[in-house]
Amino acid sequence: MAERRFEGKVAIVTGAGSGLGRATSLRLAAEGATVACLDVDADAAGKTAVEIGGRSRAWGADVSDPASVRSAVDAAAEALGTPDVLVSCAGIGRFANSHEMPPEDWKRIVDVNLNGTFFVCQAVLRHMVAAGRGSIVTIASNAGLMGQAYSAAYCASKGGVVNLTRALCDEYVDRGIRVNCVAPGGIATPLQKAFYALPEGADPNKLGKVRSPFGNSTPEEIAALVAFVASDQGRYMAGSIVSIDGGITT
Ligand SMILES: NC(=O)c1ccc[n+]([C@@H]2O[C@H](COP(=O)([O-])OP(=O)(O)OC[C@H]3O[C@@H](n4cnc5c(N)ncnc54)[C@H](O)[C@@H]3O)[C@@H](O)[C@H]2O)c1
Repeated sequence: MAERRFEGKVAIVTGAGSGLGRATSLRLAAEGATVACLDVDADAAGKTAVEIGGRSRAWGADVSDPASVRSAVDAAAEALGTPDVLVSCAGIGRFANSHEMPPEDWKRIVDVNLNGTFFVCQAVLRHMVAAGRGSIVTIASNAGLMGQAYSAAYCASKGGVVNLTRALCDEYVDRGIRVNCVAPGGIATPLQKAFYALPEGADPNKLGKVRSPFGNSTPEEIAALVAFVASDQGRYMAGSIVSIDGGITT
C-alpha cells in the first residue's frame, strides 16, 4: 500500500472481529496505525490483532455496556497510547414485523447500534479532549437515511447515529476533534446473513429499493473510504454523512 497516512497513530476500532470492522482494522494497520481491536467476541478480535501483528492488540468489550467500553478503551489507551482515531463499527440487525417484534429485540438493536456508538465515542472522547485532537468515524447505513421495511429498530438506531454524529461534531469541532459518519449500503459480510430471513407474510418487493444495481460492496472498499475520512486527507470534513451505497439513497 502506497500511502502511510496513519504512521505513528493509534486507532480504536469496534466490531473489529468481523466484516467492516476487521477490514478497517487491517486497512488502518496497513497504513501504519497501531490498532486496538475491540469486539464483544474477544476471540474474533484477537484473530484480527494477530493478523495485524506488531503492537496491535485486542480487547473484549460489549459496546452496549458503558463500563465494559470504558475499561477496554482506557486499557487500550494505557497500553498503546492516546487514540488518534476511532472507528465505531460494531452493529447488529435483522428483519422483523414491527407489530410483532419483541421489545427485548428492539432494545438490543438500539442498545448496540445507537447507545453503543455513543458509549464508545464518550469513552474515547475523554482521551481525545485531553489531547486536543482526534478523528472519529461512526458507521451508519443507508437505513439511517431512508425507510426500509421490516427494519424499524435498525433504521431508527442508524438514523440516531447520523444525528449523534452531527451533534458530537458541533460540540467538539473547535477542540481539534473531527466527527464524521460513513453510511454504507449492502456490504458482503456475516451481518447480511441476519437479514436473509424475511418475517412471516413479508413482501420481498418492498425491499427492492435497498438493492443497488451494483450488487453488494466489499468490506475493503468501504474501509478505504473510512480510512480517507479518518485521515488528515479528510481534514475539511466535519459532521459529514458520507453515503457509499451504490446509488440507493439518491
Ligand atoms: N453488512 C452490511 O450490509 C451493512 C450495511 C450498512 C451498514 N452496516 C454496518 O456496518 C457495521 C459493521 O457491520 P458488518 O456488516 O461488518 O457486520 P459483522 O456482523 O460482520 O460484524 C459486526 C461485528 O460487531 C460485533 N458486535 C456485535 N455486537 C457487539 C457488541 N454489543 N459489542 C461489541 N461488538 C459487537 C460482532 O461480534 C462482529 O464482530 C455495522 O454497524 C452495520 O450496521 C453494514
